[in-house]
Amino acid sequence: MCGIMGYLGPEEVSGVVIGGLECLEYRGYDSAGIAVSDGRKIAISKCVGSVANLKAQMAEHPLSGRLGIGHTRWATHGGVTRENAHPHADPQGRVVLIHNGIIENFYELREELKGQGVHFSSETDTEVAVCLMATLYDGDPLAAIRKACARLRGAFAFVILFADVPDHFYCVRKGPPLVLAAPSDEAFCASDVTALLPYTNRILFMEDEEIAELSAGSIALYDFDGAPKDVRLSTVEWDASMTSKGIYPHFMLKEIEEQGSVLRRTLAGRVDGGVDLSAEFPFSDGDARRYRRVHLVACGTSYYASMVAGRLMDQFTGLDVRVETSSEYRYGHMICDAETVAVFISQSGETADTLAAARRARAGGARCLAVTNVVNSSLAREVGAVLELRAGPEIGVAATKTFMGQLAALSLLALWIGKRRGRLDRSDELRLTEELVRLPLKIESLVLQGNAIRDVAEHYMKVAGFLFIGRGLSCAIGMEGALKLKEISYIHAEAHAAGEMKHGPIAMLDVNLPVVAVVPRDLFYEKTLSNLQEARARNAPIVAIATEGDGEISRFASDCIFVPATEDELTPFLTIVPLQLFAYHLASLMGREIDRPRNLAKSVTVE
Ligand code: M6R
Repeated sequence: MCGIMGYLGPEEVSGVVIGGLECLEYRGYDSAGIAVSDGRKIAISKCVGSVANLKAQMAEHPLSGRLGIGHTRWATHGGVTRENAHPHADPQGRVVLIHNGIIENFYELREELKGQGVHFSSETDTEVAVCLMATLYDGDPLAAIRKACARLRGAFAFVILFADVPDHFYCVRKGPPLVLAAPSDEAFCASDVTALLPYTNRILFMEDEEIAELSAGSIALYDFDGAPKDVRLSTVEWDASMTSKGIYPHFMLKEIEEQGSVLRRTLAGRVDGGVDLSAEFPFSDGDARRYRRVHLVACGTSYYASMVAGRLMDQFTGLDVRVETSSEYRYGHMICDAETVAVFISQSGETADTLAAARRARAGGARCLAVTNVVNSSLAREVGAVLELRAGPEIGVAATKTFMGQLAALSLLALWIGKRRGRLDRSDELRLTEELVRLPLKIESLVLQGNAIRDVAEHYMKVAGFLFIGRGLSCAIGMEGALKLKEISYIHAEAHAAGEMKHGPIAMLDVNLPVVAVVPRDLFYEKTLSNLQEARARNAPIVAIATEGDGEISRFASDCIFVPATEDELTPFLTIVPLQLFAYHLASLMGREIDRPRNLAKSVTVE
């Protein structure tokens, strides 16, 4: 949450920083701001709303310099106002700072500083941090930062400018991510690597409790006690072209349409006459037999991918399977020990709840694995073993192609654990892996139905809500479909196991509440049809996601969207695509900000 960008170098800073903020805007868009040093003093420009507003403001009142920092905010402490927008400065303007995270003891520090005569002009926890640093500053920036950090509780990534040190800037990480780079005579920092890709792919991923001092072409790294640390640069395989929208009106549509190739990449080298994840997740036969439990832990869309995987794990591994949201797992009491395989699923690898859950599992001695799209993320480093999604950077706030990558990676994991435990029949292994490699073409045929799905969406532009239903794997897909719709259209949508409808949700049904049914031709088909009869009897319009060749479904549904036939266990790979497109087109017809839905941020780095 919150986008951060910093630059020092020969270029005019405002262009570089604003370009970076545009790239990071998916992290927050309540307000935007920039601070620029002209070598003597630091000037600040900030405004409510998007980076476009800041850009317009800067066009009228430009700030010029070679050192600067910028921020897009996802509000926590204090409303969405210009005063609360970052950067923040102490009253004398000696120290200027941007922040991602939450300072938990800000209130007591604020009272203490007020007692010393400090005047605050915002409601933020961030202003407390900058004023604290200013009171501790006596000409040694690193000492002031260290002393301030020792007093702050909570999670923070800071980028800090000192007005009398115009050739350096400082970064601190305790929790939320920060990445750094210092190619030739420049220095950069950002909250996400995508903002740095136009300049370099040699990146330093800051660890927790590190302070960095950046100057032109150089990074010095320290721990919170001031001891120097090695500067560890990694080469990132992504490039800047992967973060462009190309011909698409929205990243979300581009990312939905990429899903066939994402699936090919996720499967590459892991499926060949069966499944083989030994390079990423090796274990001995003894270990495989010793495991008793598997925990799948994630948030949001990643959680729904885990629900699908949980069912496959039930079917193929013989382990006791728990699927849990990270925020609940962290405080739960389930056994999590050396006989537990704990899998943490996170697109970004930066979700605070999932990181906290992983720490709990590690402390219990579980065998941990991160399933993530970002191999250098905090989660990947925390857990060690990583199964990479290989989806490429996902910019749309609503996750789509990474869900596809998660379905693939987790299905392979279920098969792999089952195989190593001797619980997976060879015939099932071949049946499923051979179909997996056929799925990309089927997905590509599905995205061609975009216009037809748009026509269906048009029928529902005026409705106030939707009920999504499905059984088995399709229940999780209904939940993910409802989440997509809520996130980008803001229309109420709730999802239930189809069999649960009669236990309550059916009370809501009438002609004004459409039911979206995920009803592929699988084991549950007939049971779900009975539920659709019940919905129809209450005059609810029905949108069915069904299998090609199903002649019966149109008797029940007002609108049908067909997906190609596949193996029962793999229907989620296909049924999710029309639901993503349905949400996309409905939101687009309603004129919503699809890639930047209100109140959301791509990477949720606060608990
Ligand atoms: O990066 P993660 O996969 O850990 O993120 C988890 C959720 O915050 C995320 O899936 C969220 O629900 C998305 N906005 C879904 O579209």
